[in-house]
Amino acid sequence: MTDTERRSRATEAFYGRRKGKALRGQQVGRLETLLPAFLVDLDAAPPQSLDALFPVPVERLRLEIGFGGGEHLIHRAKENPTTGFIGVEPFVNSMQKLLAHVEEAGVSNIRVYDDDATQLLDWLPDACLDQIDLLYPDPWPKTRHWKRRFVSAVNLDRFHRVLKPDALFCFASDIDTYVNWTLQHCRAHGGFEWTASNAADWLTPYAGWPGTRYEAKARREGRSSAYLTFKRV
Ligand SMILES: C[S@@+](CC[C@H](N)C(=O)[O-])C[C@H]1O[C@@H](n2cnc3c(N)ncnc32)[C@H](O)[C@@H]1O
Repeated sequence: MTDTERRSRATEAFYGRRKGKALRGQQVGRLETLLPAFLVDLDAAPPQSLDALFPVPVERLRLEIGFGGGEHLIHRAKENPTTGFIGVEPFVNSMQKLLAHVEEAGVSNIRVYDDDATQLLDWLPDACLDQIDLLYPDPWPKTRHWKRRFVSAVNLDRFHRVLKPDALFCFASDIDTYVNWTLQHCRAHGGFEWTASNAADWLTPYAGWPGTRYEAKARREGRSSAYLTFKRV
């Protein structure tokens, strides 16, 4: 894909950079050979059963939106070999990094999408996912940018459609206003039940949590996090 094509692709919920430092020869090669092999092809109709996306048998399906460095995605994929993971990340350098890890670790239960997650969500069939992870989404802390936040009424409708009944939506953030925003949007939506019964439930990281690169930066800058879990009702 050329830069011109990349810029011209319409996106609804992606406002970030698509490219960082220029990739070196081997990195470009990896992107050219591995990306087509791991990419979910939205031009084709979804398979009748999404486990057909994976070369290994999978019993559950989990989506991570904006995987960044990919540490969490790789960790979870290794930890849960019978779960199929779809990771979405439009930032090319991060995608390249993830594919390098996938190749190195020989992980076969990951598939990726390299553009706005709303496109993948609209492609997915109803009630197909067991979990959606939205970990440290771009915070857009300025009030005038809040409308860019990935959590929105329309995206919660999307989540609600693709999640199975009782499936989970996990949201982590170090930005107080985004945490409150997400709680308010989920409450207003009505299709998500916050599972916390006490403060420890949202202050304690998820079981087996490996951390993420963005979280490490938040800690260095003195910010703590909230880990929200919602059940799709
Ligand atoms: C703040 S970073 C967090 C990355 C990673 N989850 C972490 O915790 O280190 C947010 C990520 O979401 C990605 N992103 C932003 N909008 C997106 C969208 N509409 N669809 C998919 N990914 C998106 C960005 O490219 C970026 O890598």
